[in-house]
Amino acid sequence: MQKLKLAVLISGSGSNLQAIIDACADEDFPARVMCVISNRPDAHGLKRARDAGISAHIVDHKVYDSRADFEEVLDDTLNHYDLDLICLAGFMRILGAGFIGKWENQILNTHPSLLPKFGGEGMYGEHVHRAVLDAGESESGATIHFVIPDVDKGPIVLQRSVPVLEGDSIETLSARVIEQEHIAYPEAIAKIARERLEKP
Ligand code: GRF
Repeated sequence: MQKLKLAVLISGSGSNLQAIIDACADEDFPARVMCVISNRPDAHGLKRARDAGISAHIVDHKVYDSRADFEEVLDDTLNHYDLDLICLAGFMRILGAGFIGKWENQILNTHPSLLPKFGGEGMYGEHVHRAVLDAGESESGATIHFVIPDVDKGPIVLQRSVPVLEGDSIETLSARVIEQEHIAYPEAIAKIARERLEKP
């Protein structure tokens, strides 16, 4: 069976990476993870990759004098693999237009709100859930979208919503949202794989 070849980029826990690894364990799932790259040497997700027998690389952004140098090494590392899709999964670096341009329509990201609401520069992690609670929203959720230079503005692949409950805290809301991210990311990868692998 033809499978979409993935790279997964992480910065931390890697629970979204784990969801993708677990989905790929099903031989009928139309994708496989070729490599994992972390910009943080201490990312727990690196252990998840190694435990799954997946090539794991560290490209530590702190080592490079500029974003351009960091992205050049990141690009070189990715080019060791014959990839179809780069999945940002808790990857906390903003990628520049030059890098994105080399991987046009090949970079996915997960965002913990129903974009276009509560997205954009500075809207990541807890800041998103805080803003949703402060705005008194009745629902939030997870968005999987293509990455373009304009942060969080790329085409949406799919979304999964959750209710915002009375008395929700950042912790309770983020736990409910990330649970849906773990379902949405594999679903989005499968959707793209079906569209791209079945094309004549
Ligand atoms: C996810 O909620 C993602 O939306 C945000 O950071 C979290 C990453 O979690 N960017 P993990 O590293 O995949 O566990």
